[in-house]
Amino acid sequence: MAEVLTKPIPVKSLGASADRPGAGKPMISSTRIARRVRQLGRQISETYADIETPLVIVVILKGATVFAADLLRSLSIPAELEFVRASSYHGGTTSSGRLQLAHMVDGTLVGRHVLLVEDIVDSGLTVNVIAKRIKRLGPASLRIAALLDRPARRVVEVRIDFCGFVIPDRFVIGYGLDYAGLYRELPHIYSLT
Ligand code: PRP
Repeated sequence: MAEVLTKPIPVKSLGASADRPGAGKPMISSTRIARRVRQLGRQISETYADIETPLVIVVILKGATVFAADLLRSLSIPAELEFVRASSYHGGTTSSGRLQLAHMVDGTLVGRHVLLVEDIVDSGLTVNVIAKRIKRLGPASLRIAALLDRPARRVVEVRIDFCGFVIPDRFVIGYGLDYAGLYRELPHIYSLT
């Protein structure tokens, strides 16, 4: 059973100690991430160069926020921003498989070109469920951008149209990805396992 933290961890114990993940060697450095995000931004801008309405970026909270913020600023086409809230890990390091949707987009997606933005596709359950719900809202098109693809744990097939990095079966944190709500602020991506 995964450990669930109920009380906030005292900041002192998260300080700049040698044990803190942010002190070790990153799996993917911020420089590499930035370069890849710029490439994805160019690729996405080219793909949607001829659409007649602004692209709708739908960000899956919370992990994808950091990636989405950088990706958005690397686009050379007009884009709007929407959010969906899903949660399946409940503080542990493996997916519980129970997906909760707490928030759906505010605006209408009828006839709009939608890009669903995810930090990591693992089992694929999160993005699969959200994509199905979005399709029911009548978009003109729906594509998926994911910074990380961890295919080792895939449960449902997912087509990732714009993928940053394919990673091995390790638990990763940083650049928006968390462990028990922590480490999202780290600029690099680290492996915890
Ligand atoms: C993580 C991650 C993805 C999802 C991927 O979200 O941000 O949304 O899990 O896993 P899956 O492919 O197995 O569904 P989490 O539920 O931890 O919430 P968070 O984004 O708020 O950290």
